[in-house]
Amino acid sequence: MKPDKLWELAGSKNSRLIVALDNIPSDPTKLVNSFKEFAVGVKIGLPFLLKWGPSQVKHLCNQFGNSLYMLCDLKLADIPFIVAEEVKLIDEYGFDGLIVHLFQGGIREVSSLPSRPDLFGLVSMTHKESRLIDEHFKELLEEALASKLEGCVAPATKPEIIRAAKKLAPELTLISPGIGAQGVQAGAAIEAGADFEIIGRAIVSGHDPGSVARAMRDAMNVSLKKVGEM
Ligand code: XMP
Repeated sequence: MKPDKLWELAGSKNSRLIVALDNIPSDPTKLVNSFKEFAVGVKIGLPFLLKWGPSQVKHLCNQFGNSLYMLCDLKLADIPFIVAEEVKLIDEYGFDGLIVHLFQGGIREVSSLPSRPDLFGLVSMTHKESRLIDEHFKELLEEALASKLEGCVAPATKPEIIRAAKKLAPELTLISPGIGAQGVQAGAAIEAGADFEIIGRAIVSGHDPGSVARAMRDAMNVSLKKVGEM
């Protein structure tokens, strides 16, 4: 299944940018307001939850859920029963999608829940030490397909993995972190086959998040034209 809201917002806002909110330095609402026009969604990670608390997370989902795709990134990896419980609670926060690990197995028990946010499975990671996960990338991708997930997360730092994921699983929506602070140029993951790019520190840690978000969004759109998707 396609993550419909994500693609609808991508069309209406002309953007493939998802901004990652982790240990952000300033007030969340003010920060999101500064770039929301240029982004299709925000990804909220564990550092954000620990720093600002569950009520702030719920507040952001309520405030921005109409104009942004709200993606929860707690990289869930427990036994299937517990992950299913976690997913139900995350759903109540108002999230549209969430990122899960696949290596632990059993994600089908989670994806078959009658009502749930979109699920994005991790098939590789951006850091160079993720050898154990990367070596099993194809099996993880098969797990994502067999479990009928909406998408997968593949690293901008490893374009060969993005290219392979796009080829082997074109039906999955591919989201890609690793741009900016981790050294990859905006647009590069899209040129390798990603559908959306995730950018955190390069946008949220600077003095002018709005301008950086706009420049990153524009670079992605240039890359979309290059690959004939615009
Ligand atoms: P920065 O600040 O490096 O933030 O732009 C990147 C964001 O993406 C997350 N991240 C990953 N998430 N698989 C994932 O699912 C990965 O390989 C990966 N690498 C980075 C990171 O948590 C941060 O929010």
